[in-house]
Amino acid sequence: MENTVVSASILSADLCCLGNDIERAEKAGCKYIHFDVMDGIFVPNISYGIPVLRSVSKRTKSVLDVHLMITDPIRYIKAFADNGADIITFHLEACGDPMRVIDEIHSCGKKAGISIKPGTPASEFEKYLEYADMLLVMTVEPGFGGQGFNYDMLEKISTAKEMLSRKGLDIPIEVDGGINEMTAALVKKAGAEILVAGSYLFNAPDMDAAVRKILEA
Ligand code: DX5
Ligand code: ZN
Repeated sequence: MENTVVSASILSADLCCLGNDIERAEKAGCKYIHFDVMDGIFVPNISYGIPVLRSVSKRTKSVLDVHLMITDPIRYIKAFADNGADIITFHLEACGDPMRVIDEIHSCGKKAGISIKPGTPASEFEKYLEYADMLLVMTVEPGFGGQGFNYDMLEKISTAKEMLSRKGLDIPIEVDGGINEMTAALVKKAGAEILVAGSYLFNAPDMDAAVRKILEA
């Protein structure tokens, strides 16, 4: 499918050689770079944040797809926007007033993605569909790379896709977690267009072939 985008999750990159790993992902055909931010509170892990994003943004012209797994994301939207984020995705479970967060992202001139964890139903997206620029369906519990794909999420992707079609909205669905050549085929069939892949790409003996397999799945 031509409209599939691969977003390379650099959580699985070699962070000492990040510039080089980003270049490899771009050359292999990844159009987005997925930047996972974890605060040790919303998820039980800590990753990297604003200074790393600033350096990455100087190094790449690809779309910087920032995934905030942090509590109360509104506090940091401007900082991520000012330091190179193109799309800022936050979790509906992480904030009291998602509409305010979406407005803040838009007022910074960036695209707003909204995300839900595996245990949250697709119906939680409903109220925000007209305002969001992307939906992110987590296909693993957020916090770590290299986990197994949760097959129950296929139905959630289809439900989200139907919700969008019913309203005549054409915004992309992104999926994140456990993507490989096999699960890629399934999520695409269910309606996902932006596929985040971390360990599958960075552990592959041949990254070019791995990206091609996702695109052609
Ligand atoms: C998990 C992160 C993912 C992760 C995906 O919380 O949001 O982006 O890096 O890694 P893989 O592709 O290895 O499941
Ligand atoms: Zn992510």
